[in-house]
Amino acid sequence: MSPTAVLVSCSELPEGDGDDDAVVPALASLGFSVSWAPWDSSFDFAAADAVVLRATWDYAARRPEFLDWCESVPSLLNSADVVRWNTDKTYLTELLDAGLAVVPTALAAPGDDARFPATDFVVKPSVGAGSRGAARFTAGADASAHVAALHAEGHTALIQPYQSSVDTSGELALVYLGGIYSHAFSKGAMLGSTMDASGLYLTEKLAPASPPAEALALAEDVLDAASALLGILRAELLYARVDLVRGADGKPLLLELELTEPSLGFRQTDPSAALRFASAVRQQLA
Ligand SMILES: Nc1ncnc2c1ncn2[C@@H]1O[C@H](COP(=O)(O)OP(=O)(O)O)[C@@H](O)[C@H]1O
Ligand SMILES: [Mg+2]
Repeated sequence: MSPTAVLVSCSELPEGDGDDDAVVPALASLGFSVSWAPWDSSFDFAAADAVVLRATWDYAARRPEFLDWCESVPSLLNSADVVRWNTDKTYLTELLDAGLAVVPTALAAPGDDARFPATDFVVKPSVGAGSRGAARFTAGADASAHVAALHAEGHTALIQPYQSSVDTSGELALVYLGGIYSHAFSKGAMLGSTMDASGLYLTEKLAPASPPAEALALAEDVLDAASALLGILRAELLYARVDLVRGADGKPLLLELELTEPSLGFRQTDPSAALRFASAVRQQLA
């Protein structure tokens, strides 16, 4: 019998946004029988050999329910433990404590007072995706009302100095498959982005990129440190995306480590990346 792989999505985008299209034939070429299913559907996930999170972009507002579902799926990739750790951005402070170059991050849990940096800064929920609940403030502004609003929803607030390089050079995303570097792409500065034809959203400008050595070195250190904190081998991570920005001194800083449902930029790289992904899925079966 051929092994089965399910790519997991959400009901609004049952087959993702197109980024994973090449993954389906790549898995099929390795003998997998492949389907898509939203995580909160009646699909029999427990029966599949590989259940691969790809486009579960509605989890943030329903995290406890999502994590319960993750626990119920034996062959989930990445694993439920990884997803639990990674869906709360307080992991950034663990990586800071481990000595990594991370965007300075302060936490204010419900009940705690928040202190704001002397520079422009960002306040965002520790659980969130797609920039929801994130707001930028100018130096000296009082962001207490935004913090209180996040607390009222049960969120811990993350407070970071605003990294203005996001406006000029954007973000660099480094993609790892099975713990091994695969490819990278850049996410252009939003200021330079254009309105989508529908007029509904700003299109993200994604482009292939070759990471400078210092970015690659930081991404490698981030993966080693995260694996150590999780008590797993790097190879146990089917996929990882390391999002870097440049600090004021031009050196790379970690903005986000995506181990849950990152877009992997398959449309921004060579077609063999989808084959590397399929090969990494097969490796996880062993
Ligand atoms: N400290 C920061 N400095 C500059 N821009 C930021 C900062 N934090 C977030 N942003 C902007 O907000 C976006 C979303 O924040 P991020 O931390 O990546 O969360 P998520 O992608 O999970 O919503 C980023 O892609 C970036 O454009
Ligand atoms: Mg992000």
